Amino acid sequence: MRILLVGDVFGESGRRCVETLVPRLRERLSLDAVIVNGENAARGLGIFEKQAKGMLAHGVDVITLGNHAFRQNEIFQMLDDPKVPIVRPANMPKRSPGHGIAYVEVEDRSTGTTVEIGVLNIMGSVYLDVGIAPFEVVDDLIAQMQARTKVILVDMHAEATSEKVAMGIHLDGRVSAVVGTHTHVQTSDARVLAGGTAYVTDLGMTGPHENSVLGVRSDIILRRFLKGVGERFVPSTEGVQLEGAIVELDSATGRATSMETIRIPAED
Ligand SMILES: [Fe+2]
Ligand SMILES: [Fe+2]
Repeated sequence: MRILLVGDVFGESGRRCVETLVPRLRERLSLDAVIVNGENAARGLGIFEKQAKGMLAHGVDVITLGNHAFRQNEIFQMLDDPKVPIVRPANMPKRSPGHGIAYVEVEDRSTGTTVEIGVLNIMGSVYLDVGIAPFEVVDDLIAQMQARTKVILVDMHAEATSEKVAMGIHLDGRVSAVVGTHTHVQTSDARVLAGGTAYVTDLGMTGPHENSVLGVRSDIILRRFLKGVGERFVPSTEGVQLEGAIVELDSATGRATSMETIRIPAED
């Protein structure tokens, strides 16, 4: 089966790009499932309920989040609903809204079978404010998921490349894919690791790539660096593209057979 994982959706232009491209890509690239990191959809900070509903209605199976998960509190009710496939990092305080694991049933077109896939969102602890270290809890979380399915996708939302590479190696052979998110810059190290786990350090960003520093209008960020003047962030709207990776895997074993990154302009 083929699964598309999409990097951090930034702002309304990123959200629109997902809703336009994902239904087309599902056909064009024979995708069986689509997982999208939506932590920056709400003008860069968190996600609005309407945006989550819109993406889920346009071919997205699961939405993952990150350090900005709780910036818009109108999403809390959706996060708490076990039937809604949105996850926030699993290593947040126990009483936080929502949950860190989602399961959805999808069709594997290559075998004509229905497969339950599990998605885990977990956050790095290097340069990010996280109470529970990911390596402290990840083994138990994976064991819990393995009892239910062989197809497990992990969104490791982290700043440090070392922490993401280490997580990929740590989970190699136990999950179908470990993909990094959060930095908004796609890395060129997509590959299948020795034990059969697809890996990439960062999927990149789905949103404005021109006149933009990681999604925010570049004049605003430049004033901050040049003059030390802090201003409200406004998303750029130029050069919008979808960035992510496609994992091909054997749903009977959960092992990945190929992994490649993609970058597609919104107009494509
Ligand atoms: Fe992000
Ligand atoms: Fe982030």
